[in-house]
Amino acid sequence: MDTLGKTITCLAAIAWKTNSSLSLEEVQVEPPKAGEGRIKMISTGICGSDDHAIKGIIPLKYPFIPGHEGAGIVESIGEGVSSVKPGDKVLTLIVPQCRECSACLNPKGNFCEKQDILPSSGLMLDGTSRFTCKGEKIYHSFRTSTFSEYTVVPEISVVKIDAAAPMDKICVISCEVPTGYGAAVHSAKVTPGSTCVVFGLGGIGSAIVMGCKAFGASRIIGVDINEEKFPRARALGVTDCLNPSNLKKPVQEAVKEMTGIGVDFAFEAIGLAETMVAAWDSCHVSHGVCIIIGVSPPNSKFSLSAQTVSTGRTLKGVCLGDYKTKDCFPQLVTAYLQNKINIDPLITHQLPFDQLHKAFELYHAGKTIRCVLLF
Ligand code: APR
Ligand code: ZN
Repeated sequence: MDTLGKTITCLAAIAWKTNSSLSLEEVQVEPPKAGEGRIKMISTGICGSDDHAIKGIIPLKYPFIPGHEGAGIVESIGEGVSSVKPGDKVLTLIVPQCRECSACLNPKGNFCEKQDILPSSGLMLDGTSRFTCKGEKIYHSFRTSTFSEYTVVPEISVVKIDAAAPMDKICVISCEVPTGYGAAVHSAKVTPGSTCVVFGLGGIGSAIVMGCKAFGASRIIGVDINEEKFPRARALGVTDCLNPSNLKKPVQEAVKEMTGIGVDFAFEAIGLAETMVAAWDSCHVSHGVCIIIGVSPPNSKFSLSAQTVSTGRTLKGVCLGDYKTKDCFPQLVTAYLQNKINIDPLITHQLPFDQLHKAFELYHAGKTIRCVLLF
């Protein structure tokens, strides 16, 4: 292939400074070094975490190329790479799986010590970047940077998937599906007949609702300040919709009244301290499980009434459904290909990559569940 070992010039989106709109630029993408792969992106989703990064809620180094929910094809590999080869269909992994650190060696959890989210260096594992624009060094985001026609990722941040995977939508298995669906079915293990509340009915919340429904929840209460999200949420399985702005009482009081005492499972997929506390307070006093998925700003704190803790409720944070990413994401792809999980209702928009600004407008206007950008 003529790009092998050469720097590629291509289109990418750059966040030059905090909270500014992204600009589409010509960037140079260096060849992969040892232990890395260069990926030709095919599709990438716009996730709440990218918006958090652009707004500085997840602090990254500027200027950077955003994006983490990606599907692509390996263009070339660096020395020593064995788990992927040129031509393979792959997903990018916002949380890697190095298989060596204390997190990877423990059967529970998945937050690999080699992640680059909290905190973020914006650099590859060797401390350098593979991107430049107009002669300036450009930082990576989460070591994925999927808002680029080509990106370079560590081998531990990419995984080969089934060659039959439809590349125009499978990218949502790189974040939205494990984060939401996985939180319900793999982390919480929602039980048949149970009651659930989901705070936030965006991409992640919608995937949580699908998981609750798939595992037989009898009642799923959806909470969102944007009522435009309600019809789709109902179609996915939400039985009751609540808009906190229209309630005369705190939303947790409404949830408790609706269920008699509180839900079996509460999920927070917004990223605000106040909705995390509301999710906790919505839980059944004895066995309620509160799952926090939303990522909140760096100095954000919440306080719980200490007495509400000792009665038996569980508070658990979950990232990517607790799945070990490299081991499990290909299995999720296969489950989709076997019609065991349906990802299609989670994608509401598909736009060409160069219409990124329109895609973000739709996202900020609350019109999208997931908008997938196609290269
Ligand atoms: N109360 C209720 N709903 C709210 C509130 C609020 N105060 N603020 C925002 N919302 C709703 C929005 O209207 C939107 O429907 O939360 C939803 C958030 O959805 P998206 O913006 O689509 O974000 P998503 O990709 O689902 O991510 C949600 O999970 O993974 C994390 O970092 C991610 O914190 C983010 C969260
Ligand atoms: Zn994401």
